[in-house]
Amino acid sequence: MTITNADLDTAREWIAQARRLCVSTGAGMSAESGVPTFRDALGGMWARFDPQQLATEAGYRADPQLVWDWYASRREGVAQAQPNGGHVALAEWQRRHPGRMTLITQNVDDLHQRAGSDDVVCLHGGLFVDRWLDPCPRWKGGQPPCDTSTATPGRPPHCETCGNRVRPGVVWFGEALPGQALQAAEDAANDCDVMLVVGTSGAVYPAAGLPLLARQAGAKVVVLNPQPSELDDTAHLVLRDTAAHGLPLLLT
Ligand code: OAD
Repeated sequence: MTITNADLDTAREWIAQARRLCVSTGAGMSAESGVPTFRDALGGMWARFDPQQLATEAGYRADPQLVWDWYASRREGVAQAQPNGGHVALAEWQRRHPGRMTLITQNVDDLHQRAGSDDVVCLHGGLFVDRWLDPCPRWKGGQPPCDTSTATPGRPPHCETCGNRVRPGVVWFGEALPGQALQAAEDAANDCDVMLVVGTSGAVYPAAGLPLLARQAGAKVVVLNPQPSELDDTAHLVLRDTAAHGLPLLLT
């Protein structure tokens, strides 16, 4: 499982020449930090847990305590994880080349930010973000009348006044992506010279549609993934390597 020198040189050359580089990352980006992916046969979370139960609003309403506890244990796991060499390579490239990279992630961990990346476009929300499950009866539009930090602790925390529950601020199946983030991702895909796709199976849309958008707009598409993915056919170049090993080689 290595990148050939010729492919590596080609990808590096494209990146070096790129006016705008768009990087789109998925769960494989954080695998070497010890954060499990979703669909890998060995160790993927959706092989052990039911996404209908744990990643839908209906599942949360059916058993809020179970779902809250599951996200609490994920928060603990991610809090102990450290950014890997791939996160660091991306952050350093961004620092050396201000304004040239848009970093888009489906990941809800904060490892890109902790590695020093700014302005990360988070398509699927954030694991450490809390928000209310329902609109408050006293909510008259605009901002909610009270912050989730005022919630009474519990599993899940709730509002003493109206009973509303707190939920994790991740995007669940069947929910719309945050509009601004999706717009920013599509704009970046449309306006880049190279789209580098790291560690995603390409199974979940709209994120999985970004590489094709970029390709149709004229960008070179490079996939970095140790395993075949649904995006390989969209790519001009597929590099079979891991994020922590391959990114420092690519982003020199
Ligand atoms: P998946 O679990 O579907 O795919 C992970 C990908 O990472 C696979 O293609 C692996 O081959 C690859 N991979 C594994 N180890 C790697 C490594 N060390 N370096 C690079 N790649 C590696 O994860 P996503 O595609 O991110 O949604 O899943 C998309 C969405 O599905 C997630 O954001 C999540 C999930 O349900 C939400 O949480 C809303």
